[in-house]
Amino acid sequence: MIRAIQTLESGGVIGFPTETVYGLGADAENPEAVAQIYALKGRPANHPVIVHLAKEADIRHWAADIHELVFALTDAFWPGPLTLILKRAAHIPDAVSGGQETIGLRCPAHPVAQQLLQAYKNGQGGIAAPSANRFGRVSPTTAEHVREEFKDDPRLSVILDGGQSDIGIESTIIDLSRMKTHGPVLLRPGHISPQEISSVTGITPKKPDEAAPRASGTLAAHYAPQTPVLLLPSEKMVSMLKQLSDKGKMLAVMHYSTYALPEKICVLKQMPNSPETYAHDLYAALRALDSVGADVMILEQPPLTTTWESVNDRLTRAAHDSQHLAIQ
Ligand code: TXA
Ligand code: MG
Repeated sequence: MIRAIQTLESGGVIGFPTETVYGLGADAENPEAVAQIYALKGRPANHPVIVHLAKEADIRHWAADIHELVFALTDAFWPGPLTLILKRAAHIPDAVSGGQETIGLRCPAHPVAQQLLQAYKNGQGGIAAPSANRFGRVSPTTAEHVREEFKDDPRLSVILDGGQSDIGIESTIIDLSRMKTHGPVLLRPGHISPQEISSVTGITPKKPDEAAPRASGTLAAHYAPQTPVLLLPSEKMVSMLKQLSDKGKMLAVMHYSTYALPEKICVLKQMPNSPETYAHDLYAALRALDSVGADVMILEQPPLTTTWESVNDRLTRAAHDSQHLAIQ
């Protein structure tokens, strides 16, 4: 912990746990330190990063024109897996907001993250942190994933280990920066559902429009493994698996219902059938299946119902770029 604080103070980057996924953190008010995160991740500089705050932090230091519903949401869900996009205060460096007029704020619930944030600048600092993976790749849910991802990179020498992330997929992101004209907008689904948001605000968050603040986790292709991925409805599983394995393809399969599967599958991962436990296991399972060198990764599509929305969102993005390769 002391080394982590010293690294942040000297403008370096650390890996640290949160309850959603692991983050790659740097001092949010030091533009050079934030630039180091972009360099490490290989992420374009116009993508904003979330600023993580201690429980006691004052969001008025970071944001301007704060709508009263923002405080209702922070009272209800912080610390926890909810990121709020607000108008950025004038003195906050461009680097964290990717040049946009907004800032993303989140107060993580993980005890190690809270301990870190409370110790840093007496609880008044902000740690800018994207998920600790290379740009576009699967997010890490253990310290070991972070080590694998940045193997041998001397710029990342401190990784705090907080065990496996409880939730397993990234925070829900709600844009509240345009309340007068648009009301709350859901930019990324997560563990906290739109229904839970509306139970506090009385307004169901809308889907993003063209002018909504850009969020890289909302790019169509994201969270992508190296192996081509095919996302299939349950009723197509058996026939497609047979067809591909008859062609001699090595298959890595992630499913949640029970099937008569062809013999030649090289790895099979049975997923839990509740959305929360599925989300908890998802990224570790994708990494494990990705590491076996299969020709195609097959994912069984969970039900298209609201409780599965955040899981389906991640699966769709994981498959987006490579569906066409998977069936060649
Ligand atoms: O659960 C999480 O949110 C994790 C942990 C580490 O806290 N972080 C995370 O960060 O997922 P990242 O950078 O991988 O995704 C953050 C998303 C991106 O899509 C980014 O574009 C969006 O939040 N974002 C951050 N600040 C924003 C802003 N000012 N305006 C619009 N979108 C913003
Ligand atoms: Mg990410």
